[in-house]
Amino acid sequence: MAQKIVTFDDWKDLFYKWQKDIGFDPALIKDYKFDAIYDQGIHPQIEFGEFKGRKKFEKVLDIPTQDMRDSLLHLIFYQGDTEFASSEQQRNLINSAPSDYDQQCLLRVMREEMRHGWQMCHILVTHFGDSGKLEARKLLERRAYQGTRLLGAFNRAVENWIDFFTYTCFIDRDGKYQLTMLHDSSFAPLSKSMGPMLKEESFHLFTGQSGLARIIKSGKVPTEILQKYLNKWLSTGYDLLGKDHSSSAGRFYRWGFKGRFDEATASAPPKDLDRLNEESRYLYYKEDCQIIDALNQLIPKGKPKLRAPDPKFNREIGDYVGKTYSVDGDPLSEAEYREHLKKVLPGPEDFKLLEPIFKEKNWMAAANA
Ligand SMILES: [Fe+2]
Ligand SMILES: [Fe+2]
Repeated sequence: MAQKIVTFDDWKDLFYKWQKDIGFDPALIKDYKFDAIYDQGIHPQIEFGEFKGRKKFEKVLDIPTQDMRDSLLHLIFYQGDTEFASSEQQRNLINSAPSDYDQQCLLRVMREEMRHGWQMCHILVTHFGDSGKLEARKLLERRAYQGTRLLGAFNRAVENWIDFFTYTCFIDRDGKYQLTMLHDSSFAPLSKSMGPMLKEESFHLFTGQSGLARIIKSGKVPTEILQKYLNKWLSTGYDLLGKDHSSSAGRFYRWGFKGRFDEATASAPPKDLDRLNEESRYLYYKEDCQIIDALNQLIPKGKPKLRAPDPKFNREIGDYVGKTYSVDGDPLSEAEYREHLKKVLPGPEDFKLLEPIFKEKNWMAAANA
């Protein structure tokens, strides 16, 4: 990919090459046309942080310092990286869909994630000069399946349709958190991107939750195995809300780039700018628990239920990195922990058990059942 990006059309050429390179056949999404979509945004003025009350920054040069501009660039290419990565993670599932309906849902999710990446690159290329163009190019050069995406969660394998539904239910939910926090960004083009992206995101969450519900309804996949997928992806989701005591989250807030998940309804400014990530993680965890409660209603009485793993379990980001807590939040010795991981995360035994189940036509209840 040595071709130079001068205009956004040059970037588009690289995008189509990227699609080809990850093995995605554009014919699958027929005449869908990728586009950058901006709406009116929420407020013309900055709503929180040090610049509260000022007109939102329309251009990068409206932003007072280079430090701020660099941070914003960083925030945007990290968001874009997750969008392209998820399509890379999901690309091998197209031919193993449980039904035509599920295949259509997957293709819609993939094309919308691609559009989200496209949207972030549109901002990078049109607003951030050479450094934006360089980052927009790099977004199409990293690969989830080579382990080169920026965040660990987006290098993890999505190997089957239980992965896919758990991922869209809980990792896309983290996506909803990120987009909501950027919705009232002080950088107007970013804020104006979020409304349309959030609308699309809600379909991903619906796909995930309804998919898990249909798996439970058919009763073929043991709850114990499903639990392992929750353990895998929820712990990943906790990581995605970022480090504890994050100074960059505090800076993003002060500069108005990224608000709190409940910024629109919060009655007071945050008490502790160092703890913004912990607060969003707590809200995310609470929402996960509500979703799991709803899924548990579908499990017959007397049968084991699903639960959210403890937020200390299996963490790769934050204060609990390298700590050996069980899914229930109990401290374990190193050796106990190694054994525990084998039992509570999906592994070869589970894959063997699932293989014949996936071959059964009705391993998931029908979408309209
Ligand atoms: Fe997305
Ligand atoms: Fe999504």
